[in-house]
Amino acid sequence: MKMLNLKGRLSLCAEFVRKGSRLADIGTDHGYLPIALCQSGTIPCALACDINPLPLESARKNIAEYGLSDRIQIRLSDGLQEVGADEIDDVVIAGMGGELIASILGECPWVRDPSKNLILQPMTRHDVLTAWLCENGFCIEEQGAVFDAGKVYTVMRVQYDGVRRDCGIYEANIGRLSPDSEAGAGFLNKCLNKLKKQEKGDPTLAPIINKMEELLYDKHP
Ligand SMILES: C[S@@+](CC[C@H](N)C(=O)[O-])C[C@H]1O[C@@H](n2cnc3c(N)ncnc32)[C@H](O)[C@@H]1O
Repeated sequence: MKMLNLKGRLSLCAEFVRKGSRLADIGTDHGYLPIALCQSGTIPCALACDINPLPLESARKNIAEYGLSDRIQIRLSDGLQEVGADEIDDVVIAGMGGELIASILGECPWVRDPSKNLILQPMTRHDVLTAWLCENGFCIEEQGAVFDAGKVYTVMRVQYDGVRRDCGIYEANIGRLSPDSEAGAGFLNKCLNKLKKQEKGDPTLAPIINKMEELLYDKHP
């Protein structure tokens, strides 16, 4: 059987999935993530979920092609609505906007179980998602960045601990990212450039931009 090797964005998501966990991949589309994780032996089984029937059909075909129909179940589900807490341990929500990811989490009470491991990969507005997580008692345990096809993305691993954290614009942009890696610095630079554009209409962003520049370029005033 041919092996499916993930790269870039989905590979970093896969790194944060716990070995032996039962996974729900929300917005699975092609189903590549659960296929690769089952093939590598990282997980025993998975639910590949999507809100739309067409992507689910594509997942179904790929899962069958890789001979994994007995281990990966496909399910039509808006977010986590059709997924039971007792069915899974880890959740991946990748390739959606940060606001949509926050709303999917907000609609599912059992994601507040501290034993659940949530792997989130926002395509846009990671700052909105980070602020929502902080305000709602979720802890970002790990966060990384990765280059993929000329773009840079962030992935976070999150668990609920019930502690509400203060989160301003600076914290929402940085999260747990570090500029020590090339991809981390690349992602933070992208955030910085976005803030600089916004600063033209909102001069109050200047101190936040200075703080980010200090972090990135080790500038000491
Ligand atoms: C860009 S694809 C991402 C596919 C894959 N997760 C990845 O990161 O490569 C987004 C997928 O999310 C699905 N989707 C959008 N909103 C959703 C929701 N509320 N619940 C479940 N799936 C959703 C779409 O149908 C689409 O297949």
